[in-house]
Amino acid sequence: MNVVAYQQVESQPGGLVVAIDGPSGSGKSSTARGVADRLGLAYLDTGAMYRALTVAYLRAGLSPDQTGAIEALADQAELTVTDDPREPAIALDGEDVSAEIREPRVSQHVSILATNAHVREVLTDQMRALIEAADHRIVVEGRDITTVVWPHAEVRVLLVADPAARIRRREAELAGAATTDEVHDQVVRRDRDDATVSEFATPADGVQLVDSTHLSLAQVIDTICALVPTPTPTPQE
Ligand code: DC
Repeated sequence: MNVVAYQQVESQPGGLVVAIDGPSGSGKSSTARGVADRLGLAYLDTGAMYRALTVAYLRAGLSPDQTGAIEALADQAELTVTDDPREPAIALDGEDVSAEIREPRVSQHVSILATNAHVREVLTDQMRALIEAADHRIVVEGRDITTVVWPHAEVRVLLVADPAARIRRREAELAGAATTDEVHDQVVRRDRDDATVSEFATPADGVQLVDSTHLSLAQVIDTICALVPTPTPTPQE
């Protein structure tokens, strides 16, 4: 993977990074895309990057104990992200895998990649490079954006929802493509695995908690857009 050296962690004048973390099924993706569209910002789904590497892992026929080969995959795979919130896409070595990354087998295996420290380091560098390439005007969703990837984001949100609501949403999203057990596995088991590498159950200092259990998508988008700081007017001469 081509990684641009990461130099800048502080906020940039004119920059607006909206960082949204949360567990699966909290409504993160629809919310993040809606916020980006409303505010005219780019959009980055960092989970899609872990998923695309998982596609590479499955295609290579690797097993979880082949740590060296998994880490080499992260170093070598070329991910290309399209950061348009209306048509987000991701390519692996030049091939669009935007549909394949949503397949249940990818959801089942993604934690193998997401719990590898080297993979996280490589992808984190790549995410930071993408934020810089978007001139720091981007909505970024994931599990560790507010804490690790971009802790100086102008807006930092932890989006949560009751587990029952999250399972219901995932079921609706998958529209019969997965059994109830598979959906339960995707939501509950994956949260447990993910929680071993990122803390996203409670908000870090300065991170706003937004509970979407009883809110519509439009209400969640309104809530997050209201957190955007208003620029201080420059004094007139
Ligand atoms: O949001 P998602 O379900 O598409 O995420 C896929 C996996 O990637 C999930 O198991 C958590 C992991 N992930 C992560 O560890 N850190 C991120 N910033 C984004 C996703």
